Amino acid sequence: MNIKACIFDLDGVIVDTAVYHYKAWKRLANQMGFDFTEHQNEQLKGVSRMASLDLILGWGNITNKTEAEKLELAAQKNEWYTEMIGQMTPAEILPGAREFVQTCRDAGLKTAIGSASKNTPTILNKLELTHLFDAIIDGNSVSIPKPDPEVFLKGAEALGVAPAACVVFEDAIAGIEAAINGDMKTVGIGSPETLTKANIVVSGLDKMSLTILAEL
Ligand code: G6P
Ligand code: MG
Repeated sequence: MNIKACIFDLDGVIVDTAVYHYKAWKRLANQMGFDFTEHQNEQLKGVSRMASLDLILGWGNITNKTEAEKLELAAQKNEWYTEMIGQMTPAEILPGAREFVQTCRDAGLKTAIGSASKNTPTILNKLELTHLFDAIIDGNSVSIPKPDPEVFLKGAEALGVAPAACVVFEDAIAGIEAAINGDMKTVGIGSPETLTKANIVVSGLDKMSLTILAEL
């Protein structure tokens, strides 16, 4: 097989944290006197913390916040969010995720996380998955958000694998684009109608196998 490494996005691929992000952002919006829907929340998937805040403020027509106030708002949201993820257990790992990562490792493939989240270390720790990854590249080590390929290129570099021999697993459009921009193969996690640019799309890692990987 041409593939030597698998790089996994975290939120929406390994674990469904979107519901916690939504609750925390919604609480912040409500505090400022407006609300937003779960459908709008879809647009925040894969989007960095500060970029998410800008989108949400836009939905509430709030235009008067200074940069310092925005940092405070994001910090408040993150406090509520980390309270919730602090309660997470391995039971919240998405179906098949741990098993597929282990299957890759057993087959001699390198594995990495490539996520925009600064909370990646906490989440992997709570899920007891840290030891399954040879490299962890997250929001603490990247400066340019997806669809820029930085996060995945850093992952490939840390693994010592050429980008063309890497497969990226992503649930966000911007994430698929980031991988393509980095000259990597892509597996979309979600629906083919949304993730149109991915090489293949599956509903979850429970539907993945080495056979499918070898066909990419
Ligand atoms: C992931 C999630 C986004 C989140 C971003 C930053 O990409 O899909 O919803 O905004 O990470 O997460 P953080 O934990 O650093 O606020
Ligand atoms: Mg994601």
